[in-house]
Amino acid sequence: TEAELDAIFQQRIEDEQKIEPKDWMPDTYRKNLIRQMSQHAHSEVIGTQPEGNWITRAPSLRRKAVLLAKVQDESGHGLYLYSATETLGVSRSELIAALQDGSAKYASIFNYPAQTWGDMGAIGWLVDGAAIVNQVSLQRTSYGPYARSMVRICKEESFHQRQGYQVMIELAQGSSKQKCLAQDSLNRFYWPALMMFGPHDSESAHSAKSMKWKIKRETNDYLRQKFIDQTVSQIEFLGLEHPDKNLKWNEERGHYDSSELDWDEFYAVINGNGHCNRQRIQHHIKAHEEGTWVREAMAAYKNKHIKAQHVA
Ligand code: 3HC
Repeated sequence: TEAELDAIFQQRIEDEQKIEPKDWMPDTYRKNLIRQMSQHAHSEVIGTQPEGNWITRAPSLRRKAVLLAKVQDESGHGLYLYSATETLGVSRSELIAALQDGSAKYASIFNYPAQTWGDMGAIGWLVDGAAIVNQVSLQRTSYGPYARSMVRICKEESFHQRQGYQVMIELAQGSSKQKCLAQDSLNRFYWPALMMFGPHDSESAHSAKSMKWKIKRETNDYLRQKFIDQTVSQIEFLGLEHPDKNLKWNEERGHYDSSELDWDEFYAVINGNGHCNRQRIQHHIKAHEEGTWVREAMAAYKNKHIKAQHVA
């Protein structure tokens, strides 16, 4: 019966067995994974827009090459994650349609504009830094293809974070104008980076199920706290002011106590009313339409190749 299958499945999860595409899984497990993994892939792809805007404006050839490499990596992470999601029995075109019609989400952080070169530093350092905290945890997720994709992605993320932090070091140790640029980017990207970890556990719609199925290995608040704690000394090293005026070390907790986030802003942005939501989706739709000829050529080549195989 379904109940017996569920029980066997849950025992496999308890026994730390990886669930593979051909294994039986509860529909709700499958649907939750398609939701999270496809939104993860959408985030990688939409995230290339703010950074892509700065490739032609990079201050040096080296910075341009490094940023180009990062944007290329992120597109590859998206491809990787779409392919991993497709193992759950959903097509790429369905996933893209959900992104473009607004029914699927992507990381809220990418709806904030990248206004200065300092933002390229803050995004690499803070956004990829937060993504690393989240993705290192996801390397142990119960679904095999997702866990394996995280191992590869995490290796590239550390380069993304380090190149961003290096930009911040150069600016913070540069002229007073450059230091102000770094401080302004830190101030604008610090809070939205904390929102990448999702709502409080008490408000999280999916965390209880995701923890039970070991899709999530740590909770939103646990990972957010880890990121807050690790960022304090990085801000100190830059000689910048911490954006959170209430930040205070709590010896008893062994963590920093910090200000509450602006959850009205969080829900406004994830429900489509951030600075750049419409622009990001329109750009994606336009680029996707312009790429139709590539998909058609691939399909024609594939059909010709299959026919040639049948003839041979
Ligand atoms: N941005 C957009 N939506 C968010 C969000 C955020 N920062 N945080 C939460 N949400 C959404 C959830 O998707 C869910 O909505 P849905 O039911 O329509 O999907 C709702 O808010 C409730 O949140 P939950 O905590 O219940 O949702 P989850 O259990 O899915 O937890 C999460 C949210 C922690 C983001 C989890 O989905 C996750 O770990 N996802 C994988 C990691 C990921 O997507 N990272 C995004 C960044 S990728 C990136 O930064 C690229 C890097 O290379 C630059």
